Amino acid sequence: MTLTLRRMTEADLAVVQQIDRSSFSLPWPERSFHFELNSNPASRCWVAEVDGQVAAMLVIWMIVDEAHIATLATHANHRRKGIGRKLLLKALEQAAQEGVRRAFLEVRSGNEAAQAMYREMGFVEDGRRKRYYRDNGEDAILMSINLDA
Ligand SMILES: CC(C)(COP(=O)(O)OP(=O)(O)OC[C@H]1O[C@@H](n2cnc3c(N)ncnc32)[C@H](O)[C@@H]1OP(=O)(O)O)[C@@H](O)C(=O)NCCC(=O)NCCS
Repeated sequence: MTLTLRRMTEADLAVVQQIDRSSFSLPWPERSFHFELNSNPASRCWVAEVDGQVAAMLVIWMIVDEAHIATLATHANHRRKGIGRKLLLKALEQAAQEGVRRAFLEVRSGNEAAQAMYREMGFVEDGRRKRYYRDNGEDAILMSINLDA
C-alpha cells in the first residue's frame, strides 16, 4: 500500500464528498467543500491517497494559534489501516509549523472509534455540549491537544 498525504485539490472534491456522505449522518452541503477549498483563508484541506485513490479527507481551520478540526473521515473500505491517524498527524504537524499551539475538536459521544483514535494520539476530553447534534440529540464531547508540549 502506497500512502500519500497531500493538500486537497478541486479534482478530489467528488470523492471527498462521497466519503463525507457515506461517513456522516449530517454530511456537509456540496458547496461547503468548495468554499473551504477556494474561499476560506483559515482552512487547510487535506486528503490521504492509497495507491493513487483518495481514501480519507480532513479539513482543519487555523485561528491564530489555535486549530479546529472541522471534519475528518476515512472511506469505510480503508479504515483501521492507520490512515486517519497519519492524516491528522500530518495536518497537526503542518499547523504547528504555522504557529498553532493547541488543536480542538468535537466528537459524538457515541463515536467510540474516533474517540479511541483521538485519545491514542494524545487528545484529552475537556467538556461536553449537551444535545449538540440536531439529528439525534447526541452530546458532543470536546477534546483538545497541546502541540507545543
Ligand atoms: C474515526 C475514523 C476517521 C478513523 O479513521 P481510520 O483511518 O480508520 O483510523 P486509524 O486506522 O488511523 O486508527 C487509529 C487508531 O484509532 C483507534 N481506532 C480507530 N478505529 C477504531 C475502532 N473502530 N474501534 C476502536 N478503536 C479504533 C485505534 O486505536 C487505531 O489504532 P489501531 O488500529 O492500531 O488499533 C474513521 O473511523 C471514520 O471515518 N469514521 C467515520 C467518520 C468519523 O466518525 N469521523 C470523525 C468525526 S469526529
